[in-house]
Amino acid sequence: PLRSVEYKIVLLGESSVGKSSILERLQNNTFNEDKSSTIGAAFISKKIPINENKDLINLQIWDTAGQERFHNLTPLYYRNANCAIIVFDLINLDSFKKAEYWIDQLNNYIEEQLIGIEIILVGNKCDLINEGEECSYINIINEFISNHKEIKRYLQTSAKENINISKLFQDIIDNIDDE
Ligand code: GTP
Ligand code: MG
Repeated sequence: PLRSVEYKIVLLGESSVGKSSILERLQNNTFNEDKSSTIGAAFISKKIPINENKDLINLQIWDTAGQERFHNLTPLYYRNANCAIIVFDLINLDSFKKAEYWIDQLNNYIEEQLIGIEIILVGNKCDLINEGEECSYINIINEFISNHKEIKRYLQTSAKENINISKLFQDIIDNIDDE
């Protein structure tokens, strides 16, 4: 390759919303009903060709632990990030409150440091919403998004049914290409 660009992504969100499952889908195209909760944090890297010159993007993805007892570690992982994917569970309103919390934390950090971190909001487990219905708290989500212009994109995904997982990462990659 002529050049290799590093791009750091961090996944944030309450425990059990499906952060690790999203990455398992991205990496192995598999899904595990009994996935164990992440301890500390996990890391994957993925090299992706971006053009006919075989230039590569080296995605470095940090999967944080959502459990409360690991929260004091989490800033270590978003500190150097280019992009933060904030995940919540579409059938768990509490998990959306946690997403709001992480977005506030990120905004404070971004303002203090005068840096840019791309913020993407993901509502996972869309397979659990009945066909033809909406998330029960869709109004809360929409209002939050319209009040937070720093949220670059919002996507509904399912790691289980493989919905919008590759789109989530492809959109990020396409955006790097633009810069
Ligand atoms: P922590 O590591 O504790 O922060 O949790 P996590 O956000 O990494 O969640 P994890 O990926 O471990 O998934 C939690 C549970 O939700 C597991 O039982 C998964 O099988 C399930 N799960 C994950 N994604 C989906 C999804 O899209 N749909 C459904 N129905 N279940 C999912
Ligand atoms: Mg996990």
